[in-house]
Amino acid sequence: MTEKYDVCVVGSGPGGYVAAIRAAQLGKRTAIVEREALGGVCLNVGCIPSKAMITAGHFYHRMQHDASTMGFEMPAEIRIDMQKLQAWKQSVCGKMSGGVAQLLKGNTVTVFMGEASFHNAKTLQVKGTSGTQTIEAANYIIATGSRPIEIAGFAVDEKDVLSSTGALALDEKIKRVVVIGGGYIGLEIGSYMAKFGTHVTVVEAGPALLNGVADPDCVQVVARRLKKNGVDVLLGAKAKGYKKSKDGLIVTIEVGGKEQTLLADKVLLTVGRKPNSDQTGLKSIGLTLDEKGFVKVNPQRKTNLPGIYAIGDIAGQPMLAHKASHEGVLVAEVIAGQNRVYDAKTVPAVIFVDPEIASAGWMESECRAHGHEDLKIGKFPFAANGRAVSMMETDGMVKIIADAKTHVVLGIHICGPEASNLISEAALAIEMGARLEDIALTIHPHPTLGETMMEAAEAALGHAIHIIQKPLTERASNGTRPSV
Ligand code: NAI
Repeated sequence: MTEKYDVCVVGSGPGGYVAAIRAAQLGKRTAIVEREALGGVCLNVGCIPSKAMITAGHFYHRMQHDASTMGFEMPAEIRIDMQKLQAWKQSVCGKMSGGVAQLLKGNTVTVFMGEASFHNAKTLQVKGTSGTQTIEAANYIIATGSRPIEIAGFAVDEKDVLSSTGALALDEKIKRVVVIGGGYIGLEIGSYMAKFGTHVTVVEAGPALLNGVADPDCVQVVARRLKKNGVDVLLGAKAKGYKKSKDGLIVTIEVGGKEQTLLADKVLLTVGRKPNSDQTGLKSIGLTLDEKGFVKVNPQRKTNLPGIYAIGDIAGQPMLAHKASHEGVLVAEVIAGQNRVYDAKTVPAVIFVDPEIASAGWMESECRAHGHEDLKIGKFPFAANGRAVSMMETDGMVKIIADAKTHVVLGIHICGPEASNLISEAALAIEMGARLEDIALTIHPHPTLGETMMEAAEAALGHAIHIIQKPLTERASNGTRPSV
């Protein structure tokens, strides 16, 4: 029997489930299809489990390194039961996925578990354990996400060569791991593995870690911390292949035209992700894709086919959960007849390395590329912030970049404690077209990490209180503060 819906969402990640809930809130008869677990990659094998492991790694590291400074008498060896850690991590994911199930049920969204495939542009078939179901919907929202890229010489088997999914599921301590790719995933996982005592070597083909995706000042802080935590980083190093030996895996890399080998127990392959646009019958119904395989969408996330929308990783960069959720709400509202378009000025991004990096808006190079030649840049170090000192987390800084003439804030980059939680103020500032003065003149509570944002804005204006800035020429000559 064919079931009819106003809206059918394909994929239940942070794009899909949010779209389904919003569509149901707006009175649409809504269905959602998922082939694995509700919540998608993010909740089950991505954002959430990685944050659980990162939290545990941070906790362990602080017990080993910081607790005694605070006066705790710690045992010589703090043991960790990796199987119990895995069980806890799974319970975190279980709670989140269960929460999505509850929300969908509470909003009367019908859930179909199974593999979805378009029969034609109007009909979807779902192959589940109890047979095939046909769905006909007036509107489809494709939110089927992305998957890891593989490279020649490293077929992921989740035994020797791990994807992020395999790495997050490890229930034993690994002695040596070679991480291929010094991007978001490789560094997040590599960082916590190092804290659990694994010797980590990062092999990155580009000239820098997080190349082009994070502010270079922030990357420098993280690179120093990686070194301190015993992580070896090889830049300009291309991974070529591996073979097994009795001592472990022999990984061949090429640096400066010369081959070298590294010994490892596991390889973690994190060289990017690609959209799942070759699945779900998307090509057969004639959806237009771009040259990188993303589904082409307009600012309302409409595809070239009427009644078919695409959101999240499959609809283009940045491949971030919160961008997907934003699009999910937007598309549901468009379907309900509201006048919505995607017009976000910034998609904030967080990299959960140590210390965390978070950003909103442009990097310096991007400001210049957008015609802002003359910039005012203010930096304020966490070492000069009382809350950070009391937390023993003083590495890093807040960096604010503004147009020198208008003082409009163009980019904010944070590397340091709770950067992930601090960045929302930056995103709001950029969305609202804030000037440096808006941030500097907003009273920030003391003692908090948030004061660094205010002081970075003051630093850009030349008068931060808790760092000594070079006297400005104007002030030096007549003793007054320059007008802004
Ligand atoms: P990525 O694109 O961030 O980094 C991949 C790196 O691998 C690049 O630096 C590239 O130069 C390098 N590489 C490629 N081939 C290589 C080779 N043969 N040898 C050595 N290095 C090589 O990709 P990643 O880390 O897999 O992440 C994928 C996406 O997932 C990110 O772009 C991000 O959108 C998303 N993500 C977001 C997170 C967050 O919001 N906190 C966390 C994790 C992932």
